[in-house]
Amino acid sequence: MRIDIITVLPELLKSPFEASILKRAIEKGLVEVHFHNLRDYTDNSYNQVDDYQFGGGAGMVMMIEPIDKCISGLKAQRNYDEIIYMTPDGKTLNQKIANSLSLLENIIILCGHYKGVDQRVRDMFITKEISIGDYVLSGGELGAAVLCDTIIRLLPGVLNDETSALTDSFQDGLLAPPVYTRPAEYKGIKVPEVLLSGNFGKIEQWREEKAQERTEKLRPDLLQ
Ligand code: ADE
Repeated sequence: MRIDIITVLPELLKSPFEASILKRAIEKGLVEVHFHNLRDYTDNSYNQVDDYQFGGGAGMVMMIEPIDKCISGLKAQRNYDEIIYMTPDGKTLNQKIANSLSLLENIIILCGHYKGVDQRVRDMFITKEISIGDYVLSGGELGAAVLCDTIIRLLPGVLNDETSALTDSFQDGLLAPPVYTRPAEYKGIKVPEVLLSGNFGKIEQWREEKAQERTEKLRPDLLQ
């Protein structure tokens, strides 16, 4: 998979890709992530990427020209399955969206800033608009990092048995069951007996029951 991220603040975005699972996925060649600084696509001397909004009002708007240059340049080199705009008024990210995006070959992610992008960018180029939740970030970069993390960990070969995505919360529509590790007893609190029993049928059944119980208690909306 190849991910091209268009941003005015690449430095805000790079560190999540330089550690742990995402770093390893890139090193193994399972994903390529390319950052494009929008200021490199300006031709004014101030490298200006935003301007006042027509009609007046507070807040700057990202201009179409540098974004067009960047996206059109990328599209001339390969086909993109989705061109995603990170925005608080997009569709809220969930595991189902992450699963479907993880099956794609090439995607572009555009990070919004200020009051957002000129509407013509959305009309002309964007195929999907994604929010990471009902709150406003200073820019789309942190949202893009979250989106990339959810996608990349699903790519075949990224996770091993110990970190398998199949048993994650949400993957089967339920929250994950409780987990325990050594010691088997800590300050008088014991690990549930069944987990020490070695009976894998019973353990699986217990995990399913707990996943169901936990979801009913904490996230009943997931069961509707
Ligand atoms: N940009 C600003 N707020 C955002 C959000 N909640 N999700 C994605 N991008 C954003």
